[in-house]
Amino acid sequence: MDDRFNTEEAANYDDAIRRRIPLYREIQTLMASLLPFPKKEYLRVLDLGCGTGETSVSLLKEYPLARVTGIDSSPDMLDVARKKVKHTTWRVDFLCQDIRAFNLEGEFDVIVSGFSLHFLSPDEKEEILRKCLALLKDGGMFMDSEAVLLPSEKVYNMYMEKWKDFMRSNGFSDEEIGSHILKFLKDVKPMTVDNQLGLMRKAGFRDVECYFKYLNWAVFGGYK
Ligand SMILES: C[S@@+](CC[C@H](N)C(=O)[O-])C[C@H]1O[C@@H](n2cnc3c(N)ncnc32)[C@H](O)[C@@H]1O
Repeated sequence: MDDRFNTEEAANYDDAIRRRIPLYREIQTLMASLLPFPKKEYLRVLDLGCGTGETSVSLLKEYPLARVTGIDSSPDMLDVARKKVKHTTWRVDFLCQDIRAFNLEGEFDVIVSGFSLHFLSPDEKEEILRKCLALLKDGGMFMDSEAVLLPSEKVYNMYMEKWKDFMRSNGFSDEEIGSHILKFLKDVKPMTVDNQLGLMRKAGFRDVECYFKYLNWAVFGGYK
């Protein structure tokens, strides 16, 4: 993935991502709202590929007593995340590590990942899912948003056109859209919804579900 999430991308990320992914903000809120815990619970949360901390911040707002550990390999994205939570640093720990080889102790009630696991191969993802299961407490939940692959070329092409329209309507030029889609096709390894659900079950999650899907974006969840 080279240097994709570099200083420049990190500085523009929060603005650009809302204009690139339809319903980005709503998806973050949805992920936090789907967690099956009382709002005053003292939750321990792990955020994989936390980036600039948008998923973490949604969770901290929804769960005022939660503590989040966020992991990301981009120091520039983490710098933005740290600035965002500087008033509540005791509740957040952002670590610069590769999510394919992270090293953590303890148990978590919730593991979330926003738009990050689709950068991994299916084998890498399966390994991470197994690790997540091991790190979750019994009854804990894994929640993940990702780009998904469409099973039919006709539908895929139609969704790509809708996606381009969305970005165009948010002020991106055709050249910017073309360059973003090229990067997307190079770096992102989406799976179909069925394959993703199958992989989660294979890794050992139960009550696995696709909670949301719009065009080629989806939210998945599963319980330990
Ligand atoms: C599209 S951003 C998503 C950020 C955030 N979760 C969100 O929902 O906005 C993807 C993030 O995944 C991180 N990432 C990708 N591959 C990674 C890896 N192998 N280890 C750690 N972080 C990774 C990138 O650095 C980037 O910050």
